[in-house]
Amino acid sequence: MPEPTPVTMSATLAADEALARRRRAGERVLSMASGEIGLPVLPALRDRLAAAADENRYGSVAGSPALRTAAAGYWERRGLGVDPGLVVAGPGSKSLLFALLLAIGGDVIVPVPSWVSYAAQARLVGARPLPVPILPGQGGVPDPDRLRAAVADARAAGQNPRAVVVTVPDNPTGTVASAATVRRLAEAARELDLVIVSDEIYGDLVYDGSAPAVSPALHAPERTVVTTGLTKNLALGGWRTGVARLPDGEPGRALHTRLVAVASQIWSSPPAPVQSAAAYAFGEPPEVTERVAASRRLHETVVRAVAARFTAVGAQLAPVAATCYLYPDFEPLREQLAATHGVHDGDGLAGLFSERYGVGVLPASAFGEPARPLRIRAATSHFYGDTDERRTAALRAADPLALPWIRESVDRVGEVLADLTGARVPGALVPHP
Ligand SMILES: Cc1ncc(COP(=O)(O)O)c(C=O)c1O
Repeated sequence: MPEPTPVTMSATLAADEALARRRRAGERVLSMASGEIGLPVLPALRDRLAAAADENRYGSVAGSPALRTAAAGYWERRGLGVDPGLVVAGPGSKSLLFALLLAIGGDVIVPVPSWVSYAAQARLVGARPLPVPILPGQGGVPDPDRLRAAVADARAAGQNPRAVVVTVPDNPTGTVASAATVRRLAEAARELDLVIVSDEIYGDLVYDGSAPAVSPALHAPERTVVTTGLTKNLALGGWRTGVARLPDGEPGRALHTRLVAVASQIWSSPPAPVQSAAAYAFGEPPEVTERVAASRRLHETVVRAVAARFTAVGAQLAPVAATCYLYPDFEPLREQLAATHGVHDGDGLAGLFSERYGVGVLPASAFGEPARPLRIRAATSHFYGDTDERRTAALRAADPLALPWIRESVDRVGEVLADLTGARVPGALVPHP
């Protein structure tokens, strides 16, 4: 029997667990490592989940008709109408992404940087992750020209790229690829005969004033699989629910059959009570859309305040347009960080944040970048409060930055950055917006 594929713990989940251990040991820590959305369950969803607790049958492998129909409606309202028969629900979009890579086969193009699990999942299914850089400020989508070159090289070398994964909007950069880049990516994928796996888990978290995210499914409907879920927009990560929208036409239907077969061999069916609540959520009644809008506003306010702290000390940051993530680059501070702290790369920088200040962030290398860049990813989604009462207040606040617990976390980032970079008076540099 061959040796098992090497696999490491997801960097985000490992960092969260390490910080939780330190907090339990009494240390002062600030978690900016994972994108766990620290917000409470919407009561209407909790009630639906509870009311369905007696549903103990496996149910259909692809998910209940109610959930698949509701998810199809969700996509239809976004210009991506789909036959509910082509929707597959699963225990989280992460599981669906893994099953899709298995079902598609071949090697996988991944953007650099990109979410920690794409490359790891590709390796687990026995595929090669083929890294292709993004265009500056347009995270989540590989540069279409470099994609063409990378696929040509890979095929010439006997490799078999069959899929390209994109993230719109993006984790880790908090940016959204432009409509033109998404269109060019779709054209390149068609030319190269690649399946596009479009991870749109952050689709509802584009800030109100930013240009909307465009799905590649609009430009290459015959070859784009879209995945999403309720983990980010409704903070339901622990409920493990996600959905995939398969393309219409013969290849899409064949892929659907394979995906459902994989699902049947791994998770059998999505959890029945969660499906009941998820069907309600994907129907987007007013309390759901209001909650998603409130969380979007909260992320934007806090992300912008934290971004201002980073830029105030000289870090570079592409304007964040969505999500709860920032991806600052400390390159302009390279000499200073080397001289003062002996830090020469992103791993060292993330280590410094964690060890000296108790601030959990992830190095760019966790997202497939080389070690050298002085980039880190920071998430603000743990700032909203440590009780449901505080989190609800954060969602309702006209000015979340005026809430003492949020203010304290944002100020702590300012203090840490001031100490790290030798900036003199952080409060004065970055007044309360
Ligand atoms: C880009 C991206 N895709 C997928 C996921 C996983 O989502 P789910 O909870 O639906 O498995 C995450 C979670 O952090 C993510 O950041």
